Amino acid sequence: MSNDPYTLARAAADALRSASGLDTFDVALVMGSGWVPAADAIGETVTEIPFTDLPGFSAPAVAGHGGKIRVIRTPGGRHALVFLGRSHLYEGRGVDSVVHGVRTAAAAGVGTIVLTNAAGGLRPETQQVGDPVLISDHINMTGANPITGTTFIDLTEVYSRRLRALVHEVDPTISEGVYVAFRGPTYETPAEIRMLRTLGGDLIGMSTVLEAIAAREAGLDVLGVSLVTNPGAGLADEPLNHEEVLQVGRETAARMGTLLSKIVDRL
Ligand code: 6GU
Repeated sequence: MSNDPYTLARAAADALRSASGLDTFDVALVMGSGWVPAADAIGETVTEIPFTDLPGFSAPAVAGHGGKIRVIRTPGGRHALVFLGRSHLYEGRGVDSVVHGVRTAAAAGVGTIVLTNAAGGLRPETQQVGDPVLISDHINMTGANPITGTTFIDLTEVYSRRLRALVHEVDPTISEGVYVAFRGPTYETPAEIRMLRTLGGDLIGMSTVLEAIAAREAGLDVLGVSLVTNPGAGLADEPLNHEEVLQVGRETAARMGTLLSKIVDRL
């Protein structure tokens, strides 16, 4: 098979069509760690396809990151591709692996992608652990970019203003913030967290930005939502651990599920 990433994404999209019996899909959702327990609320499962059955995907290395695509029919009759798990830069498979799900979703016909993640909060003065925050913009500190070549892509509005306005209608209490991405897998030092606050960051994580860039390249509308699972290092007394991230996801599953289900049929 070709090793061109776009050709590989078309092959994966064809495999999704065969496995589901559907010709096209309306929306894709990438469920970050902490969000997987919320997936059940989006609609009824048509079928589930393990990543290992699809061209170009590999099984995620981290516990709690799932590893399959669930095809869901929403109550409003839309078809959603729900990615239970994603590839991260820190897993070492490269940028094309990180954005393969987004390119596959685009090749499968979706017009909108919802990127979710678990994030550290950089503003504990105004953020509560367990709150969802809409991503208004990002700062890409991964040092990577999914696009090679000389196509200069505008990133003035990566995270759709229209989609954010729609979420505010559904949940008027939700706030917005700037998401900063580091490569990981280490969490940040307290000095790095202070730096990011000074730079205008509100959320810190290890995903989403490369997928958002690839989605814009493919012409998709992007909605980004972070679940604040802990304050950044040095902003609270506790050291950070991944189990805490997953636990916050379990505790907030009902609320995040309701939010997503209200969103998908209004997109
Ligand atoms: Cl504090 N940092 C990073 N990089 N990712 C996170 C996090 C912090 N909390 C949840 N995910």
